[in-house]
Amino acid sequence: ARQEAALTMARRILLTDADHRDLTLDYLKLLTGRQRLRPVAPRDVLVVGAGVAGMVCARLLLAAGHKVRVLEANRSRVGGRVKTFRGDLWQDSRLHAEAGAMRIPSSHVLTLALADHLKVPRRPFHLVDVPPQPDLVSGDARVVYRSWTGEEFATGGAPAYTAPKGLGGRLVHVNGQTVSKAAYAADPGPVNKSFGWDSTQTAGAAFDRALDTARAYTMVKNGDGSWSDKPIEQRVTGMAQLLYDLDGYSLLRYLQESEGWSDAQVQAVGTLENLTSRLSYGFLHSVFDASDINPAVTYFEFSAGTDALTEALAKDLPIERGKVATRVRFGDGGVTVLAEPESGPEDEACEGAIGGDRCEYRADAVVLAVPYAALRHVDFDPILPYGKRRAIAELKHDTAHKVLVEFTERWWEWDEDTWKAKLGADYRPAPHGDAVAAVGGGCVSDEASRFVYFPSHPSDDGAPGGIVLAAYNWAEDALRFDALTPADRHTEALDHLAGLFGERIRRYATDRHVSQSWLRNRWALGEAVIETPGQLLSLGPHVPAPVDGRLFFAGDHCQPRYHAWISGAIASGVEAALQLTAG
Ligand code: ARG
Repeated sequence: ARQEAALTMARRILLTDADHRDLTLDYLKLLTGRQRLRPVAPRDVLVVGAGVAGMVCARLLLAAGHKVRVLEANRSRVGGRVKTFRGDLWQDSRLHAEAGAMRIPSSHVLTLALADHLKVPRRPFHLVDVPPQPDLVSGDARVVYRSWTGEEFATGGAPAYTAPKGLGGRLVHVNGQTVSKAAYAADPGPVNKSFGWDSTQTAGAAFDRALDTARAYTMVKNGDGSWSDKPIEQRVTGMAQLLYDLDGYSLLRYLQESEGWSDAQVQAVGTLENLTSRLSYGFLHSVFDASDINPAVTYFEFSAGTDALTEALAKDLPIERGKVATRVRFGDGGVTVLAEPESGPEDEACEGAIGGDRCEYRADAVVLAVPYAALRHVDFDPILPYGKRRAIAELKHDTAHKVLVEFTERWWEWDEDTWKAKLGADYRPAPHGDAVAAVGGGCVSDEASRFVYFPSHPSDDGAPGGIVLAAYNWAEDALRFDALTPADRHTEALDHLAGLFGERIRRYATDRHVSQSWLRNRWALGEAVIETPGQLLSLGPHVPAPVDGRLFFAGDHCQPRYHAWISGAIASGVEAALQLTAG
């Protein structure tokens, strides 16, 4: 059974089937209107949840002639974990910042193709700091997906986008030392030593090497040290074997047992590469994450805010807002969903509560496109199959936290001379080396804030200021912020920034800040599913399985390769629509 689960999950991870079909190509064609769902007798479908998954599914079903209604718990917005803080939240209402999804890897072609199809403008997102010049690349740079079938799918206009080299001016702040990323890369020894790790490799290079064991299951190493995918048949069997061998491993156990890492190395690399908070989670998640988040990856962001994508998806969809599904009855030739109104929001981050008179919706089928953590609070009658119930009860949902701080000017784009000109007689040097003029990139720190990200662009409409993601953290690191009041989160994140860049930055801080705890968000109940060891195989196959031909499931948790990414939500929305219209 474990072997069978491994094969099933390997196919889902690679988006293929028993015939080695490339499902990514099918999904791309469906999303961009080049292909349609199989024509079947029209059904009356209720979609629960107007996040990316639910709305993608609803749009495909509507286009195929089905009757579709969408229920959304939140009264004031759609989008789920795509959430853009804008307007009056900021002193300068022209600014916006992301509480949730903010960066799209160039390889996430499902997201980019859907956005291009809906004419949602995008531009590069700079994971590393680059010189501030407005026209590094045209917004809709071309992205090409090359299938193992030989077929190609291109989206966006020419030319393709090559990211500029990072300046390395942002900071590494650990064990009381503060150095630039360039200085760390040039001479990693001293920082590594501060952890007791005697090595001249960077943490990034060490972690990259540690993943070679996992890579070798599905890829071959070329003479020049680069890796290429094996043929699809071998990738599937390799991925299944990888799952079989290593799904039970936590990241910590893998690094210790398989790679022979010392505690000091685990601590050093974990701290610098954002792994410490998830050492106890399933190892495979970190393998996937490492290929989506690293300095060699190029990214896009949506120029007008990520919610431009979800607003475009919501357009013309019949969405009833402020309706919380609390009970699902099925098995009587149809589905009845009971919903109650949202009574909230209590605050920006939490969003709401349930309260008020029930209403009833009758349909032929329902697509439950909300996190499994939310389904835990829904009654099913009759009860769901055992595997499904276990998945709903046990699947590990991670948490993430963001603190966003508004500044009246974009001081991170200034070099030391600009600082002198700005401050005149009040000028004081930066505490940790000269300021580097740059957009994008960020800092890593072992203090509570952990990761800082700077905006990749000035504001579109000429606002002089900007919003810094002053603290972005996951798992245990995020929990350290969850219990703080919003005001205290702000104080701590701003103090941390001032420690890195000098007290001089405080004069540009407005009193506006917003923080988002995804764990405390009433409708998300977490950031995303990140499995604990063993869950991919024991629970994974039960997650997307329809029940009784009437209950369908969608959301990024249904697509194991892309948890916590818009791409996963999109793929799952397409899959639910396909399941609903299957023979
Ligand atoms: N997509 C999100 C990001 O770019 C989260 C990625 C992974 N999340 C996670 N909990 N591992 O930051």
